[in-house]
Amino acid sequence: MNPKDEFPEAYELCKRFMLGEDQMIEVIDRMTKEINMGLARDTHARSVIKCYVSHVQDLPTGQERGKFLALDLGGTHFRVLLVTLINDFETNIESKTYIMEKSLISGPGGDLFDFLAECLANFCKDHHVEGDNLPLGFTFSFPLRQNGLANGVLTAWTKGFSCDGVVGKNVVQLLEEAIARRKDLKINIVAILNDTVGTLMSCAYLSRNCRIGLIVGTGTNACYVEKTANAEMFQNYQTSSKPYMIINCEWGAFGDNGVLDFIKTPFDKLVDKQTPNVNRQTFEKCISGMYLGELVRLILIDLIGKGVLFKGHSSEFIFQKWSFQTSFISEVESDAPGQYRNASLVLDKIGVRQTTEFDKRCLRFICETVSTRAAKLTACGLVCLINKMNASDVTIGVDGGVYRFHPKFHDILVHHVSKLLRPGFHFRIVLSEDGSGRGAALVAAAAVSNKFTKE
Ligand code: BGC
Repeated sequence: MNPKDEFPEAYELCKRFMLGEDQMIEVIDRMTKEINMGLARDTHARSVIKCYVSHVQDLPTGQERGKFLALDLGGTHFRVLLVTLINDFETNIESKTYIMEKSLISGPGGDLFDFLAECLANFCKDHHVEGDNLPLGFTFSFPLRQNGLANGVLTAWTKGFSCDGVVGKNVVQLLEEAIARRKDLKINIVAILNDTVGTLMSCAYLSRNCRIGLIVGTGTNACYVEKTANAEMFQNYQTSSKPYMIINCEWGAFGDNGVLDFIKTPFDKLVDKQTPNVNRQTFEKCISGMYLGELVRLILIDLIGKGVLFKGHSSEFIFQKWSFQTSFISEVESDAPGQYRNASLVLDKIGVRQTTEFDKRCLRFICETVSTRAAKLTACGLVCLINKMNASDVTIGVDGGVYRFHPKFHDILVHHVSKLLRPGFHFRIVLSEDGSGRGAALVAAAAVSNKFTKE
């Protein structure tokens, strides 16, 4: 039976999530305009896709060697890594992950950076490198206006972070000051980079035609390789001897000026209202792991209220905001056709018992609707960048939990990119191998060997 007849009420709520090809083409066109505005000096200030210059102008050569430290901050976990680039094929990575308590994510910025410095110090002591002045690459996955490879000013927090006193500051300096306060550590911070850039670098190490780094995880974003001559916000864009510059799009903010209102649903508006950054990160809120579960939960609540699901019974748990994790969507959609084992487990986790097969089928339909839209919008973003580069054969390096763990995200993404791309264009999507760690080390390696000009 088709969903319209099988779940008429759910279908009614979900149909606005179902993007048609015309809408997708419109999204691509609008995004292209925004990217061009972000790149150009005259329009950059009023653009929403900021297209920050990363100051990374060389892709890896495969000749990078040595020992580097990397930090990875961008979500609920913070990682410290010791990366040894041994040869073309061998990289040794030792790392430790630290959980970020809620109080750190929304407390004073000073506490955040003291915490980062403390973790770094403990890690370095464990590995006996605290006095070695090792070069460090800092993967900092929030919007940064970069004034150099080791200078990045935070323009806004995303993904639920809201620490005071950091927006408008050079994050490298904040970390250096926190390290200096401790007096037990010698570190040389040589680069700060976005996770998309790390992802691109680590894939480009293996696939020479890798030109896009994509993240679909807690947040979403992409970077791509642009001609330096087009990167007008780079001070030396006309005189640089290096032909390319990696651009950190910060595409999560696409739509913050209303250009995506034509696809927004009432549920998108509800989710937005519950976040600390209302009216910001519109595109991200339709795609990334921080928000997809909540979209599903809000649709479920609506249907419970109408008496359509769970015979009107439910649990208190499901009425708690953010209680439906995005990983549940991947679980529900991992059931084989006609089977509902994972759906039952998920319903159990959210405290809803004695459900019918109709409930489970409907839950799956809702999950599919929300995740398919996310994959389609990601496809629009990729098509926009591939067209922008006019790259007829390109590899896209990708990372992030939604992409990694959702059973069909990759296939839906590939299907729609293929459909929307110009005829004769080819692409390949590959999973990045620890972009935030290895990618940061590669950028640091290039910085140290002075391959990056100090322009
Ligand atoms: C941030 C980006 C980041 C993305 C993926 C977004 O919220 O603004 O800088 O690349 O999340 O982690």
